[in-house]
Amino acid sequence: MKIKLSLFIIGQFLFLSATAQIDQLPVKKIIDLAEKQYQSYIDKFPDSTQHLYSIRPNSNIQAVTYKDWTSGFFPGCLWYLYDFTKDKKWESDAKKWTATLEPAKLVTTMHDLGFILFSSFGNGYLLTKDSSYKNILLQGAKSLSTRFNPIVGSIKSWDNGPWHYPVIVDNLMNLELLFWVAQTFHDTSFLHIAISHLNNDIKYRFREDGSTFHVLDFDPSTGKLIAKKTWQGYTDSSCWARGQAWAIYGFTMAYRYTHNKEYLLYAKKAANYFIDQINKIDDHIPYWDFNDTAIPNTQRDVSAASIAASALLELSEFDPATKKTYYNAAVEILRSLCSDAYLATPGTNHDFLLQHGVVNKPGGKGVDVPIIYADYYFLQALWRYQHYSTK
Ligand code: GLY
Repeated sequence: MKIKLSLFIIGQFLFLSATAQIDQLPVKKIIDLAEKQYQSYIDKFPDSTQHLYSIRPNSNIQAVTYKDWTSGFFPGCLWYLYDFTKDKKWESDAKKWTATLEPAKLVTTMHDLGFILFSSFGNGYLLTKDSSYKNILLQGAKSLSTRFNPIVGSIKSWDNGPWHYPVIVDNLMNLELLFWVAQTFHDTSFLHIAISHLNNDIKYRFREDGSTFHVLDFDPSTGKLIAKKTWQGYTDSSCWARGQAWAIYGFTMAYRYTHNKEYLLYAKKAANYFIDQINKIDDHIPYWDFNDTAIPNTQRDVSAASIAASALLELSEFDPATKKTYYNAAVEILRSLCSDAYLATPGTNHDFLLQHGVVNKPGGKGVDVPIIYADYYFLQALWRYQHYSTK
């Protein structure tokens, strides 16, 4: 009886500490805000072929179709909202905004099919098990695979620009589509492409200090590396904050699918560099590039912050020795994102959740604006926070 009672007390204590941990971040307040903001967007723009992206220089809403790399994030936010609230209304909207992205499964002129299809149909499949979604993801993986050149060993990112065969750090994110399809359909051909791409990134992507280059340019006929450059960063030798966040996320996700310790090592390298940089900043929200010489008089990028927070939460799950470091770093970032400095008040911020993102500063596009992928990874990070911290 005594033993039973103490077990009961310990159980209650563990339950209460897990609950207290969750309560540290105002998850419910943010889900309430998301319901208000996204409903307001849908009321104004009910056309489900148009996916909320950002704002234009004249402050009008910028929405995109399936042809844009960001189109999967709005339906992705709606799927998260459905999962958080279990309200069928959000499932119905998520389905509508997801359905209009189906034509992307046949696009072979860009590498972004993972972003587009996995954030929409991928999340949708996890929640609904709709088998038509599964086949759309399979076709998307086939289309993405056409961009793989075995001589280079990587998937080509862009078909335009001053490059021979550009492979950008962002491309790591699209590998999730290949890993998932390989696992789901037991087809190792997709797995081999993803692994080859990752191994090539390991060869060339990282600097000694764990920071990453944005663009690797290869000679497609020999596979030799021609140059290490940037496109959205401050200089070729600087570290573009969102690129670094993509690297943490990409290698962490690759470890989840493969259990290859080398991927975990590179995820940690990328994460350690990112954390060292944000620890120099009072509120842990990165500047858009860690080496902009104008720091502190330059812009923050909440998208880099939310991508990194989500990735760090997953990374914290994989090694008990580093769990606390990565978990605490993620929670510090999220705490700041939940503050008035970054979080919108209801009815403001053009219906987005987060303020202060940077799309492409050197290109003069979207500097200090709300961006849908900042919202998407923020919601994903909160979902991970809620689910992982109760384990
Ligand atoms: N994938 C493009 C970007 O991160 O801006």
